[in-house]
Amino acid sequence: MTLDEKVGQLVQYSAGQPTGPGTGRTDYEDMIAHGQIGSLLNVIDTPLINKYQHIAVDKSRLHIPILFGLDVIHGYRTEFPYPLAMASTWDPTLIERASRVAAIEASAIGIRWTFSPMVDIARDARWGRIQEGAGEDPYLGSLMAAAYVRGYQGSRLDAPDTMAACAKHYVGYGAAEGGRDYNSTEISEHTLREFYLPPFHAAVSAGTATLMSAFNSLNGVPSSANPFTLTQVLRKEWGFQGFVVSDWTSVGELIPHGIATDSATAARKGFLAGVDMDMASSFYHDNMAQLVHSGAVPEARINESVRNILRVKFALGLFDHPYADEGRAKHVNFLPESLQLEQTIAERSLVLLKNAPAANGTSLLPISKEVKSVALIGPLGDNPSDPDGLRPADFPKSGAPTFPSELAKRLGEGNVFRAKGGSINESSDQEIAAAVEAAKRADLAILTLGEPQEMSGEATSRTNLGLPGRQQELLEAVAATGKPVVLIVFSGRPLTIPWAAKQIPAILAAWSPGTEAGPALARTLFGEVNPSGKLVLSWPRSVGQEPLYYNALNTGRPAARYDLTQPPTDTDSKYVSRYIDELNTPQFPFGFGLSYTTYSYSPTTINKNQLSAKDLNRTLKANDKAVLTVEATVSNTGSRAGDETVQLYVGLRGTSTAQPVRALKGFQKIALAPGETKKVTFSLDADALAIWNDHNEFAAEPSKVSVWISPDSTSGSDAKLEILP
Ligand code: BGC
Repeated sequence: MTLDEKVGQLVQYSAGQPTGPGTGRTDYEDMIAHGQIGSLLNVIDTPLINKYQHIAVDKSRLHIPILFGLDVIHGYRTEFPYPLAMASTWDPTLIERASRVAAIEASAIGIRWTFSPMVDIARDARWGRIQEGAGEDPYLGSLMAAAYVRGYQGSRLDAPDTMAACAKHYVGYGAAEGGRDYNSTEISEHTLREFYLPPFHAAVSAGTATLMSAFNSLNGVPSSANPFTLTQVLRKEWGFQGFVVSDWTSVGELIPHGIATDSATAARKGFLAGVDMDMASSFYHDNMAQLVHSGAVPEARINESVRNILRVKFALGLFDHPYADEGRAKHVNFLPESLQLEQTIAERSLVLLKNAPAANGTSLLPISKEVKSVALIGPLGDNPSDPDGLRPADFPKSGAPTFPSELAKRLGEGNVFRAKGGSINESSDQEIAAAVEAAKRADLAILTLGEPQEMSGEATSRTNLGLPGRQQELLEAVAATGKPVVLIVFSGRPLTIPWAAKQIPAILAAWSPGTEAGPALARTLFGEVNPSGKLVLSWPRSVGQEPLYYNALNTGRPAARYDLTQPPTDTDSKYVSRYIDELNTPQFPFGFGLSYTTYSYSPTTINKNQLSAKDLNRTLKANDKAVLTVEATVSNTGSRAGDETVQLYVGLRGTSTAQPVRALKGFQKIALAPGETKKVTFSLDADALAIWNDHNEFAAEPSKVSVWISPDSTSGSDAKLEILP
């Protein structure tokens, strides 16, 4: 390969709808013919993909195929719930199956690389991209990361229906200060190692072909020019063999970041730090050959990156099968089994936040036979999930029934009174009055409020996490009629709904349930399925609590033993880590979710009261399994069958670095018939008890350990053991 041909492999442009500030480049055909482009993104038209591919394969000197990439984030044609919602199923096998469907549908049009999964740990609901990840926990996030990779990449990457995965955004993007997208992050190595890096490591261990370097600066060094994370951790420690693509123009953004004042320096810094491919900024194309000629970049390094990229192209079988089969797309979209899977995931992602007895003493959900009519009120009730995904594109519709039509199917056409009550951001007095009138005529009001899709995702940070526009007023006006109210919250993030949490008897977090939203919601409301989703993020009471996450450190002045509902009464209760105007606790904690039945948990038991740090560390190194068995029994104490996610948390005290009050280290989903009891057994590996210590090593240390088996991150009783030296 000539140097120019090598540099060509390091270059990617958008040849479709830009997903960031554009370069304005359009000379792709000529560049491809000259071997100057290794990859294109955002082309979603199969004839155009094949046209570009023919130019690459037939006209360029070395016939190297183009790799086509796209943000296929929660399905392609069959749209699954947001990743945040899918994680709320706590079921990696479902995520793997959904990603498989996404890969089958997208690869059929010629997309062999998805910029997914987003595995950023996110603790701040102001950040709009919280919607694209698996929430605040590294253990759950790691399982989800690996599941996406397995699903996209299949069992053989060279099968024509796979896509190379791309774990993003490496690293720390989710910790944007103030929740403001693209903002800087400061993350200590300890916090990076224990919280932010594990999901990326899991994706690498699962074989992800690529990673994307992030926009944000990390401890003063932009993530797209960060040798510590990109080379030391990723290549040297984890042995990553694939390639790293920059995020959109993030190499170009090294100039506004302030670590380069010209494009050649930006290209050099990004590349030498470990970014193999430059997405959209054109800086590699413009400068790399000259950087090699001047000796600033060794050609050997270029060779390495080209190998990394070509290895992925070979692994995908692109050299043998470069073209998309134009007929295949017609046969793989919206397959009945894909829609069925979508519906199952949608149903299991719904989180029942509240179902308190209403005025008549019984819970409103599931909707009883006595309810003969409903008022469907709110701007999001018709089609809460336009199949747009995160990126508006011209997607065909699936033909799935809408939520109102599903209600009408169950109650009769004339018994569903629709009143939008305005739009997301605006409502007139008349619209609110019409909604109130609709509620008065009905037995039950269902309010569908929250955020539409475009209010979460990239570049959608908010400073206010309440219901947008006049939706809160609408809710209060309808509730004031005295009619029973069920609130369905659609959102891509936790919202602050303190009034509703107190006043509204039944609340369901619905996220954006995807293609089969209508049936999934109706079946849940009418009790044809029992909700089983659990939160993967803490829902705050007030935006001022953010960032809010369950696995926080204890602080030196924990407030736990004081009644924070009261103002401080003495110096002991004043000088603790608390607010003077809000509780510390979330409105709804991580791991929480109700169902139409109830469960009781026995105390947690363990098979050992002592372990030795020395033995644990030996086990860690040898990669041996199971050092501790933890058990509890869980009973279904209600009258319906249900699926419960039983969670296991660990807390360590006496270690060299302060550890979270609790950290998730395991979970199991169990099905329980009414009255049934099951014993749930967890085998813990040594790494569940190891930490990133003050010697910058991952190791077990002498400590006092609490282990909880519980239904969420705040309840349950712990069993105790000691780790001796
Ligand atoms: C986003 C990435 C995405 C890329 C390509 C960027 O703006 O941050 O997540 O993959 O655009 O669309």
